[in-house]
Formats: sequence, C-alpha cells, structure tokens
Amino acid sequence: MSAAQDRWMQRWLPQLRSAAQAGPVLELGCDRGGDTVWLLDQGFEVVATDIALDALRACASNAPRAQLLQHDLRTPLPFADERFGAAIASLCLHYFDWATTTRAVAELRRCLRPGGLLLCRVNSVRDVLHGSNAGEEIEPGLRRVHGTYSVDKRFFERGDLERLLPPAAWDWVSCEEHTIRRYDQPKVAWELVLRKP
Ligand SMILES: C[S@@+](CC[C@H](N)C(=O)[O-])C[C@H]1O[C@@H](n2cnc3c(N)ncnc32)[C@H](O)[C@@H]1O
Repeated sequence: MSAAQDRWMQRWLPQLRSAAQAGPVLELGCDRGGDTVWLLDQGFEVVATDIALDALRACASNAPRAQLLQHDLRTPLPFADERFGAAIASLCLHYFDWATTTRAVAELRRCLRPGGLLLCRVNSVRDVLHGSNAGEEIEPGLRRVHGTYSVDKRFFERGDLERLLPPAAWDWVSCEEHTIRRYDQPKVAWELVLRKP
C-alpha cells in the first residue's frame, strides 16, 4: 500500500464534509500529496503546507488544484484566526520538543473555526518497528533517531495526547491506535478526531 492508497480519512468523510461547509481544509505536512489528492477528489477546497520544497513540487504535480505553501510547523501559521473549517495533520506533529509541539497545536487551533474538525495521526509508543525504542531519549517521549523527515521523533502514550489536546480545549470524538500498513514494516499510530468547541 502506498501513501496514496492509505484511505484513513474515508470513514470520517461525513464529519469532514459537514465541517468543511464552514471553510476550507488545512492540511499540514502534506508531503507529496497522497491525502491532498483524496481531499480534492472529495470536492474540498484544500490549503496544504509542508516544510520540504521537493515534497511541495511533487504535491503541486499530483494535486494541482490545492493551494500550496511552504511552512515550518515550528513557526506560526500564516493564516487568519478561524479561517478553516477542518484541519488534517497526518504523521507530521511528532518531530518536535514538547514546547514546540504545544505551540504548533495552539496555532492549528487558532486557525480553526469553532466547531472545526481536526483529524490527526501521530506515532504511538508501541511503534517499535519505527523507532519507539531506538536512539537516545532526549526529552520524555522524544528520541534522537536521525529519521527520514527529522532528527527527532516523538512517540505518544494516550496521556501525552490528553496533555497536548486537553478535553477543556478540544471535544474528543475519537482516539484509537491503528496499524498502518503502507510502509515496509507495520506502523502503530494514534488516530484522533477532535472538534474545537
Ligand atoms: C511522514 S510524512 C507524512 C506525510 C503525509 N501527511 C502522510 O500522512 O502521508 C511527514 C511530513 O512532515 C513534513 N515535515 C517534517 N518536519 C516539518 C516541519 N518542521 N514543518 C512542516 N512540515 C514538516 C515532512 O516534510 C513530511 O512531508
């Protein structure tokens, strides 16, 4: 299975459609556009960002109707408050120290409308085949693994997600661990669906 065949958002399509009536979909860490293409195919207006220019070039070719922007998640998002009806952050919020991660989530929340939907996937501590026990732990949950996308990778336990996305700030719709089978080795990740109250 490739990134383009990983249809993890399909089961959330009704909720996504409803949320996106209020504004476009923001996709963070879009890479080459596997999810971007799917979002466009469903008829959504998509603004997609990534730090990597080569990924954005491939995304532009695969998903020409998306609005693309180079952006580093460690910096503020260049969008007005409450611009988006929904946001997607798939496997891109697990590269940073805790302070940076909480800032990135706060920025994401700022850009979502009240009632806006967030679909998010992050590494699980049980993602052993993708490094959850590898390298030096340089901060609780953050390991120096020198990976493909980043030097550091964070692996989350459910309690970490509750601290990062506290129920006081987010309505939790779903939080489940899933095995993703699109890489050489199965990957264990949390799949979260949250709503901004
Ligand atoms: C594992 S890929 C996930 C791609 C896609 N969202 C998916 O689920 O298939 C991680 C993506 O995060 C991007 N990324 C890594 N560090 C980033 C940063 N500081 N700011 C923005 N994007 C970043 C990478 O360039 C890469 O495209």
